[in-house]
Amino acid sequence: MSTILTIADLKDLARRRVPKMFFDYADSGAWTESTYRANEEDFGKIKFRQRVLVDMSNRSLESTMIGEKVAMPVALAPTGMTGMQHADGEMLAAQAAEEFGVPFTLSTMSICSIEDVASVTRKPFWFQLYVLRDKDFVLSLIDRAKAAKCSALVLTLDLQILGQRHKDVRNGLSAPPRMTLANVIDMAIRPRWCLGMAGTPRRTFRNIVGHAKGVGDVASLASWTTEQFDQHLSWKDVTWIKERWGGKLILKGILDKEDALMAAKTGADAIIVSNHGGRQLDGASSSIMALEEIADAVGDSIEVHMDGGIRSGQDVLKALCLGAKGTYIGRPFLYGLGALGKEGVTKALEIIRKEMDITLALCGKRLATDMGKDQLRR
Ligand SMILES: Cc1cc2nc3c(=O)[nH]c(=O)nc-3n(C[C@H](O)[C@H](O)[C@H](O)COP(=O)(O)O)c2cc1C
Repeated sequence: MSTILTIADLKDLARRRVPKMFFDYADSGAWTESTYRANEEDFGKIKFRQRVLVDMSNRSLESTMIGEKVAMPVALAPTGMTGMQHADGEMLAAQAAEEFGVPFTLSTMSICSIEDVASVTRKPFWFQLYVLRDKDFVLSLIDRAKAAKCSALVLTLDLQILGQRHKDVRNGLSAPPRMTLANVIDMAIRPRWCLGMAGTPRRTFRNIVGHAKGVGDVASLASWTTEQFDQHLSWKDVTWIKERWGGKLILKGILDKEDALMAAKTGADAIIVSNHGGRQLDGASSSIMALEEIADAVGDSIEVHMDGGIRSGQDVLKALCLGAKGTYIGRPFLYGLGALGKEGVTKALEIIRKEMDITLALCGKRLATDMGKDQLRR
Protein backbone atom coordinates (compact mmCIF):
# COMPACT_ATOMS: atom_id res chain seq x y z
CA MET A 1 0.00 0.00 0.00
CA SER A 2 2.82 2.42 0.88
CA THR A 3 4.14 2.24 -2.69
CA ILE A 4 0.81 3.33 -4.12
CA LEU A 5 1.15 7.05 -4.58
CA THR A 6 -0.84 7.84 -7.70
CA ILE A 7 -3.98 6.77 -9.55
CA ALA A 8 -1.62 5.30 -12.17
CA ASP A 9 -0.20 2.97 -9.47
CA LEU A 10 -3.73 1.72 -8.74
CA LYS A 11 -4.29 1.23 -12.46
CA ASP A 12 -1.16 -0.92 -12.75
CA LEU A 13 -2.27 -3.12 -9.88
CA ALA A 14 -5.83 -3.39 -11.22
CA ARG A 15 -4.45 -4.50 -14.59
CA ARG A 16 -2.80 -7.45 -12.82
CA ARG A 17 -5.77 -8.38 -10.63
CA VAL A 18 -8.85 -7.89 -12.83
CA PRO A 19 -9.60 -10.24 -15.76
CA LYS A 20 -8.63 -8.60 -19.05
CA MET A 21 -12.21 -8.35 -20.30
CA PHE A 22 -13.26 -6.19 -17.36
CA PHE A 23 -10.06 -4.19 -17.03
CA ASP A 24 -10.35 -3.35 -20.74
CA TYR A 25 -14.00 -2.42 -20.28
CA ALA A 26 -12.89 0.32 -17.88
CA ASP A 27 -9.76 1.34 -19.78
CA SER A 28 -11.36 2.00 -23.14
CA GLY A 29 -12.92 4.72 -25.21
CA ALA A 30 -14.91 4.74 -28.43
CA TRP A 31 -13.24 4.01 -31.80
CA THR A 32 -9.78 5.64 -31.96
CA GLU A 33 -10.02 6.65 -28.27
CA SER A 34 -8.90 10.19 -29.19
CA THR A 35 -11.47 11.83 -26.90
CA TYR A 36 -10.66 9.37 -24.13
CA ARG A 37 -6.99 10.39 -24.36
CA ALA A 38 -7.79 14.12 -24.75
CA ASN A 39 -9.81 14.07 -21.52
CA GLU A 40 -6.61 13.33 -19.59
CA GLU A 41 -4.07 15.13 -21.78
CA ASP A 42 -5.89 18.47 -21.91
CA PHE A 43 -5.63 18.87 -18.15
CA GLY A 44 -1.86 18.95 -18.62
CA LYS A 45 -2.12 22.05 -20.82
CA ILE A 46 -3.58 24.10 -17.97
CA LYS A 47 -1.06 25.73 -15.61
CA PHE A 48 -1.46 27.12 -12.10
CA ARG A 49 -0.04 30.37 -10.76
CA GLN A 50 2.41 29.62 -7.95
CA ARG A 51 2.02 32.11 -5.08
CA VAL A 52 4.30 32.54 -2.05
CA LEU A 53 4.27 34.04 1.45
CA VAL A 54 0.54 33.65 1.85
CA ASP A 55 -0.73 32.20 5.14
CA MET A 56 -1.70 28.69 4.15
CA SER A 57 -2.85 27.35 7.51
CA ASN A 58 -6.37 26.03 8.19
CA ARG A 59 -7.11 24.80 4.72
CA SER A 60 -10.38 23.14 3.76
CA LEU A 61 -11.53 21.16 0.74
CA GLU A 62 -15.13 21.03 1.94
CA SER A 63 -17.88 22.21 -0.35
CA THR A 64 -21.42 21.38 -1.43
CA MET A 65 -22.85 19.62 -4.47
CA ILE A 66 -26.56 20.21 -5.14
CA GLY A 67 -26.79 21.49 -1.57
CA GLU A 68 -25.26 18.36 -0.01
CA LYS A 69 -22.17 18.83 2.11
CA VAL A 70 -19.13 17.02 0.66
CA ALA A 71 -15.67 16.45 2.19
CA MET A 72 -14.31 17.48 -1.21
CA PRO A 73 -16.21 18.18 -4.43
CA VAL A 74 -15.45 14.79 -5.97
CA ALA A 75 -18.29 12.29 -6.40
CA LEU A 76 -18.00 8.72 -7.65
CA ALA A 77 -19.41 8.60 -11.20
CA PRO A 78 -21.98 6.01 -12.26
CA THR A 79 -20.18 3.12 -13.93
CA GLY A 80 -21.76 -0.02 -15.35
CA MET A 81 -20.63 -3.50 -14.27
CA THR A 82 -18.64 -2.18 -11.32
CA GLY A 83 -19.32 -5.46 -9.55
CA MET A 84 -17.19 -7.19 -12.18
CA GLN A 85 -14.06 -5.19 -11.25
CA HIS A 86 -14.33 -6.74 -7.80
CA ALA A 87 -17.02 -8.88 -6.16
CA ASP A 88 -19.80 -6.69 -4.72
CA GLY A 89 -18.02 -3.67 -6.21
CA GLU A 90 -20.89 -1.20 -6.04
CA MET A 91 -21.60 -2.01 -2.39
CA LEU A 92 -17.94 -1.60 -1.44
CA ALA A 93 -17.49 1.61 -3.40
CA ALA A 94 -20.66 3.08 -1.89
CA GLN A 95 -19.40 2.30 1.61
CA ALA A 96 -15.98 3.80 0.88
CA ALA A 97 -17.62 6.98 -0.46
CA GLU A 98 -19.96 7.22 2.53
CA GLU A 99 -17.09 6.89 5.01
CA PHE A 100 -15.03 9.46 3.11
CA GLY A 101 -17.91 11.92 2.85
CA VAL A 102 -18.44 12.11 -0.90
CA PRO A 103 -21.47 11.08 -3.01
CA PHE A 104 -21.68 7.67 -4.67
CA THR A 105 -23.72 7.31 -7.87
CA LEU A 106 -25.14 3.90 -8.73
CA SER A 107 -25.54 3.08 -12.44
CA THR A 108 -28.69 1.55 -13.93
CA MET A 109 -26.29 -1.00 -15.47
CA SER A 110 -24.81 -2.03 -12.14
CA ILE A 111 -24.21 -5.55 -10.89
CA CYS A 112 -25.39 -4.85 -7.30
CA SER A 113 -28.95 -3.53 -7.26
CA ILE A 114 -30.35 -0.33 -5.75
CA GLU A 115 -31.62 -2.46 -2.86
CA ASP A 116 -28.22 -4.19 -2.40
CA VAL A 117 -26.47 -0.82 -2.05
CA ALA A 118 -29.19 0.57 0.23
CA SER A 119 -28.77 -2.46 2.50
CA VAL A 120 -25.11 -1.64 3.28
CA THR A 121 -25.22 2.17 3.45
CA ARG A 122 -26.74 4.61 5.93
CA LYS A 123 -26.57 7.89 4.03
CA PRO A 124 -28.47 8.45 0.78
CA PHE A 125 -26.62 7.70 -2.44
CA TRP A 126 -27.42 8.96 -5.96
CA PHE A 127 -28.99 6.89 -8.72
CA GLN A 128 -28.18 7.22 -12.44
CA LEU A 129 -31.01 6.55 -14.84
CA TYR A 130 -30.86 5.39 -18.44
CA VAL A 131 -34.14 5.96 -20.24
CA LEU A 132 -35.12 2.67 -21.83
CA ARG A 133 -37.98 1.86 -24.20
CA ASP A 134 -39.78 -0.17 -21.57
CA LYS A 135 -41.37 2.83 -19.82
CA ASP A 136 -42.95 0.71 -17.09
CA PHE A 137 -39.48 -0.48 -16.18
CA VAL A 138 -38.13 3.10 -16.18
CA LEU A 139 -40.97 4.18 -13.88
CA SER A 140 -40.27 1.25 -11.57
CA LEU A 141 -36.56 2.16 -11.45
CA ILE A 142 -37.46 5.72 -10.44
CA ASP A 143 -39.81 4.41 -7.77
CA ARG A 144 -37.22 1.95 -6.47
CA ALA A 145 -34.65 4.75 -6.21
CA LYS A 146 -37.21 6.80 -4.26
CA ALA A 147 -37.99 3.87 -1.97
CA ALA A 148 -34.25 3.44 -1.33
CA LYS A 149 -34.16 7.15 -0.34
CA CYS A 150 -31.67 8.14 -3.05
CA SER A 151 -31.11 11.89 -2.73
CA ALA A 152 -30.49 12.66 -6.43
CA LEU A 153 -31.40 11.24 -9.81
CA VAL A 154 -28.66 11.55 -12.42
CA LEU A 155 -30.26 11.35 -15.86
CA THR A 156 -27.78 10.34 -18.56
CA LEU A 157 -28.43 12.08 -21.88
CA ASP A 158 -25.54 10.94 -24.06
CA LEU A 159 -26.19 7.24 -24.50
CA GLN A 160 -29.29 6.71 -26.61
CA ILE A 161 -27.10 4.64 -28.90
CA LEU A 162 -23.98 2.82 -27.78
CA GLY A 163 -20.59 4.13 -28.95
CA GLN A 164 -18.42 1.29 -30.19
CA ARG A 165 -15.51 0.32 -28.00
CA HIS A 166 -13.41 -2.08 -30.03
CA LYS A 167 -11.87 -3.83 -27.04
CA ASP A 168 -15.28 -4.88 -25.73
CA VAL A 169 -16.25 -6.33 -29.10
CA ARG A 170 -12.96 -8.21 -29.39
CA ASN A 171 -13.15 -9.50 -25.82
CA GLY A 172 -16.80 -10.58 -26.15
CA LEU A 173 -17.67 -8.62 -23.00
CA SER A 174 -20.49 -10.08 -20.89
CA ALA A 175 -21.53 -10.42 -17.24
CA PRO A 176 -20.98 -13.06 -16.10
CA PRO A 177 -18.17 -13.88 -18.55
CA ARG A 178 -18.73 -16.72 -21.02
CA MET A 179 -16.81 -19.85 -20.18
CA THR A 180 -14.58 -19.87 -23.25
CA LEU A 181 -11.09 -21.36 -22.95
CA ALA A 182 -9.47 -17.91 -23.18
CA ASN A 183 -11.72 -16.51 -20.44
CA VAL A 184 -11.22 -19.49 -18.16
CA ILE A 185 -7.42 -19.19 -18.43
CA ASP A 186 -7.57 -15.42 -17.93
CA MET A 187 -9.63 -15.81 -14.78
CA ALA A 188 -7.63 -18.76 -13.45
CA ILE A 189 -4.49 -16.64 -13.24
CA ARG A 190 -6.38 -14.15 -11.07
CA PRO A 191 -7.42 -16.35 -8.12
CA ARG A 192 -8.17 -13.43 -5.78
CA TRP A 193 -10.82 -12.13 -8.20
CA CYS A 194 -12.25 -15.65 -8.71
CA LEU A 195 -12.51 -16.29 -4.97
CA GLY A 196 -14.41 -13.04 -4.49
CA MET A 197 -16.80 -13.87 -7.30
CA ALA A 198 -17.33 -17.40 -6.05
CA GLY A 199 -18.35 -15.97 -2.69
CA THR A 200 -21.09 -13.61 -3.93
CA PRO A 201 -24.46 -14.23 -5.57
CA ARG A 202 -24.11 -10.89 -7.40
CA ARG A 203 -22.79 -11.65 -10.87
CA THR A 204 -25.25 -10.14 -13.30
CA PHE A 205 -27.27 -6.94 -13.79
CA ARG A 206 -29.37 -7.06 -10.65
CA ASN A 207 -31.27 -3.81 -11.30
CA ILE A 208 -32.69 -5.47 -14.39
CA VAL A 209 -32.86 -9.26 -14.10
CA GLY A 210 -36.06 -10.22 -12.34
CA HIS A 211 -37.40 -6.64 -12.58
CA ALA A 212 -37.83 -5.95 -16.31
CA LYS A 213 -40.43 -7.85 -18.33
CA GLY A 214 -38.98 -10.58 -20.54
CA VAL A 215 -35.61 -10.61 -18.82
CA GLY A 216 -35.60 -13.69 -16.67
CA ASP A 217 -32.07 -14.84 -17.32
CA VAL A 218 -28.69 -13.67 -18.50
CA ALA A 219 -29.08 -15.03 -22.02
CA SER A 220 -32.10 -12.81 -22.73
CA LEU A 221 -30.39 -9.84 -21.06
CA ALA A 222 -27.75 -9.24 -23.75
CA SER A 223 -30.22 -8.79 -26.58
CA TRP A 224 -32.65 -6.89 -24.32
CA THR A 225 -30.07 -4.23 -23.36
CA THR A 226 -28.88 -3.47 -26.88
CA GLU A 227 -32.46 -3.05 -28.07
CA GLN A 228 -33.59 -1.08 -25.08
CA PHE A 229 -31.90 2.34 -25.25
CA ASP A 230 -34.58 4.79 -26.35
CA GLN A 231 -33.52 6.74 -29.42
CA HIS A 232 -36.63 8.91 -29.19
CA LEU A 233 -35.54 10.57 -25.95
CA SER A 234 -36.01 14.36 -26.12
CA TRP A 235 -36.07 17.42 -23.84
CA LYS A 236 -39.80 16.77 -23.30
CA ASP A 237 -38.98 13.54 -21.51
CA VAL A 238 -36.98 15.42 -18.91
CA THR A 239 -40.27 16.98 -17.75
CA TRP A 240 -42.12 13.73 -16.92
CA ILE A 241 -39.03 12.17 -15.40
CA LYS A 242 -38.51 15.23 -13.19
CA GLU A 243 -42.16 15.11 -12.13
CA ARG A 244 -42.21 11.39 -11.36
CA TRP A 245 -38.94 11.67 -9.43
CA GLY A 246 -39.83 14.82 -7.51
CA GLY A 247 -36.35 15.30 -6.03
CA LYS A 248 -32.95 16.68 -7.01
CA LEU A 249 -32.20 16.09 -10.70
CA ILE A 250 -28.80 16.17 -12.40
CA LEU A 251 -28.50 16.06 -16.21
CA LYS A 252 -25.38 14.18 -17.32
CA GLY A 253 -23.61 14.31 -20.66
CA ILE A 254 -23.73 17.97 -21.74
CA LEU A 255 -20.82 19.11 -23.91
CA ASP A 256 -22.29 22.02 -25.83
CA LYS A 257 -23.39 25.41 -24.56
CA GLU A 258 -26.70 25.35 -26.50
CA ASP A 259 -27.59 22.10 -24.73
CA ALA A 260 -26.46 23.54 -21.42
CA LEU A 261 -28.86 26.47 -21.87
CA MET A 262 -31.69 24.05 -22.70
CA ALA A 263 -30.82 22.02 -19.62
CA ALA A 264 -30.96 25.10 -17.41
CA LYS A 265 -34.50 25.79 -18.67
CA THR A 266 -35.73 22.38 -17.48
CA GLY A 267 -35.35 23.45 -13.86
CA ALA A 268 -32.90 20.63 -13.13
CA ASP A 269 -30.52 21.19 -10.21
CA ALA A 270 -27.22 20.58 -12.02
CA ILE A 271 -25.62 19.55 -15.28
CA ILE A 272 -22.56 17.36 -15.72
CA VAL A 273 -20.25 18.53 -18.50
CA SER A 274 -19.23 15.10 -19.76
CA ASN A 275 -18.48 13.04 -22.86
CA HIS A 276 -19.07 9.78 -21.00
CA GLY A 277 -15.36 9.34 -20.38
CA GLY A 278 -14.63 9.37 -24.13
CA ARG A 279 -16.78 6.26 -24.57
CA GLN A 280 -19.45 7.73 -26.86
CA LEU A 281 -18.63 10.38 -29.53
CA ASP A 282 -14.99 9.86 -30.43
CA GLY A 283 -13.69 13.16 -31.81
CA ALA A 284 -15.72 15.26 -29.38
CA SER A 285 -13.94 17.86 -27.26
CA SER A 286 -12.40 16.87 -23.95
CA SER A 287 -14.67 17.75 -21.03
CA ILE A 288 -12.19 20.17 -19.47
CA MET A 289 -11.91 22.15 -22.72
CA ALA A 290 -15.71 22.40 -22.99
CA LEU A 291 -16.21 23.41 -19.37
CA GLU A 292 -15.38 27.11 -19.27
CA GLU A 293 -17.62 28.15 -22.17
CA ILE A 294 -20.53 26.19 -20.72
CA ALA A 295 -20.04 27.52 -17.20
CA ASP A 296 -19.89 31.09 -18.53
CA ALA A 297 -22.99 30.57 -20.68
CA VAL A 298 -25.23 29.25 -17.90
CA GLY A 299 -23.89 31.52 -15.16
CA ASP A 300 -25.83 31.01 -11.94
CA SER A 301 -28.89 29.54 -13.65
CA ILE A 302 -27.81 25.94 -12.93
CA GLU A 303 -25.03 24.29 -10.95
CA VAL A 304 -22.22 23.00 -13.16
CA HIS A 305 -20.37 19.72 -12.54
CA MET A 306 -17.85 17.99 -14.79
CA ASP A 307 -16.24 14.61 -15.32
CA GLY A 308 -13.77 13.01 -17.69
CA GLY A 309 -10.02 12.55 -17.37
CA ILE A 310 -9.59 13.53 -13.72
CA ARG A 311 -6.57 11.57 -12.50
CA SER A 312 -5.32 13.81 -9.69
CA GLY A 313 -6.34 16.39 -7.16
CA GLN A 314 -4.73 18.99 -9.40
CA ASP A 315 -7.21 18.09 -12.14
CA VAL A 316 -10.08 18.60 -9.70
CA LEU A 317 -8.79 22.07 -8.79
CA LYS A 318 -8.37 23.01 -12.46
CA ALA A 319 -12.01 22.06 -13.05
CA LEU A 320 -13.07 24.19 -10.07
CA CYS A 321 -11.04 27.12 -11.45
CA LEU A 322 -12.85 26.84 -14.79
CA GLY A 323 -16.32 26.96 -13.29
CA ALA A 324 -17.24 23.52 -11.96
CA LYS A 325 -18.83 23.38 -8.52
CA GLY A 326 -18.34 19.62 -8.39
CA THR A 327 -16.51 16.84 -10.20
CA TYR A 328 -16.79 13.07 -10.61
CA ILE A 329 -14.25 10.30 -11.01
CA GLY A 330 -14.99 7.12 -12.94
CA ARG A 331 -11.87 5.12 -13.77
CA PRO A 332 -9.80 6.30 -10.78
CA PHE A 333 -12.17 4.61 -8.34
CA LEU A 334 -12.65 1.57 -10.60
CA TYR A 335 -8.88 1.04 -10.67
CA GLY A 336 -8.79 1.35 -6.89
CA LEU A 337 -11.60 -1.17 -6.57
CA GLY A 338 -10.00 -3.64 -8.97
CA ALA A 339 -6.66 -3.30 -7.23
CA LEU A 340 -7.65 -3.45 -3.57
CA GLY A 341 -11.44 -3.58 -3.17
CA LYS A 342 -13.00 -1.06 -0.79
CA GLU A 343 -9.59 -0.03 0.57
CA GLY A 344 -8.51 0.80 -2.98
CA VAL A 345 -11.49 3.13 -3.49
CA THR A 346 -10.58 4.89 -0.25
CA LYS A 347 -6.96 5.04 -1.43
CA ALA A 348 -8.01 6.69 -4.72
CA LEU A 349 -9.96 9.32 -2.77
CA GLU A 350 -7.06 9.87 -0.34
CA ILE A 351 -4.58 10.35 -3.18
CA ILE A 352 -6.83 12.97 -4.75
CA ARG A 353 -7.44 14.69 -1.40
CA LYS A 354 -3.73 14.98 -0.66
CA GLU A 355 -2.92 16.32 -4.11
CA MET A 356 -5.72 18.87 -3.81
CA ASP A 357 -4.60 20.00 -0.39
CA ILE A 358 -0.92 20.53 -1.24
CA THR A 359 -1.73 22.20 -4.55
CA LEU A 360 -4.22 24.53 -2.87
CA ALA A 361 -1.54 25.62 -0.40
CA LEU A 362 1.08 26.20 -3.09
CA CYS A 363 -1.40 28.27 -5.07
CA GLY A 364 -1.74 30.46 -1.97
CA LYS A 365 -5.32 29.49 -1.14
CA ARG A 366 -6.98 28.09 1.96
CA LEU A 367 -10.35 27.07 0.60
CA ALA A 368 -10.98 24.89 -2.42
CA THR A 369 -14.15 26.92 -2.97
CA ASP A 370 -11.99 30.04 -3.50
CA MET A 371 -10.28 28.60 -6.57
CA GLY A 372 -11.18 30.57 -9.69
CA LYS A 373 -9.81 31.63 -13.04
CA ASP A 374 -7.38 33.95 -11.25
CA GLN A 375 -5.43 30.93 -10.01
CA LEU A 376 -4.64 29.83 -13.56
CA ARG A 377 -1.82 31.19 -15.69
CA ARG A 378 -3.23 32.21 -19.08
C1 LIG B 1 -16.38 1.33 -17.14
C2 LIG B 1 -17.28 2.51 -17.25
C3 LIG B 1 -18.65 2.34 -17.22
C4 LIG B 1 -19.50 3.45 -17.30
N1 LIG B 1 -20.85 3.26 -17.19
C5 LIG B 1 -21.67 4.34 -17.14
C6 LIG B 1 -23.05 4.17 -16.87
O1 LIG B 1 -23.54 3.06 -16.66
N2 LIG B 1 -23.82 5.29 -16.85
C7 LIG B 1 -23.31 6.55 -17.06
O2 LIG B 1 -24.04 7.53 -17.03
N3 LIG B 1 -21.98 6.72 -17.29
C8 LIG B 1 -21.16 5.65 -17.32
N4 LIG B 1 -19.82 5.84 -17.51
C9 LIG B 1 -19.28 7.20 -17.62
C10 LIG B 1 -18.91 7.76 -16.25
O3 LIG B 1 -20.05 8.04 -15.49
C11 LIG B 1 -18.10 9.05 -16.35
O4 LIG B 1 -18.78 9.94 -17.19
C12 LIG B 1 -16.69 8.83 -16.86
O5 LIG B 1 -16.16 7.61 -16.37
C13 LIG B 1 -15.79 9.98 -16.41
O6 LIG B 1 -14.52 9.83 -16.93
P1 LIG B 1 -13.27 9.18 -16.14
O7 LIG B 1 -13.48 7.73 -16.14
O8 LIG B 1 -12.11 9.61 -16.97
O9 LIG B 1 -13.26 9.76 -14.75
C14 LIG B 1 -18.95 4.75 -17.45
C15 LIG B 1 -17.56 4.91 -17.48
C16 LIG B 1 -16.73 3.81 -17.39
C17 LIG B 1 -15.24 4.02 -17.40
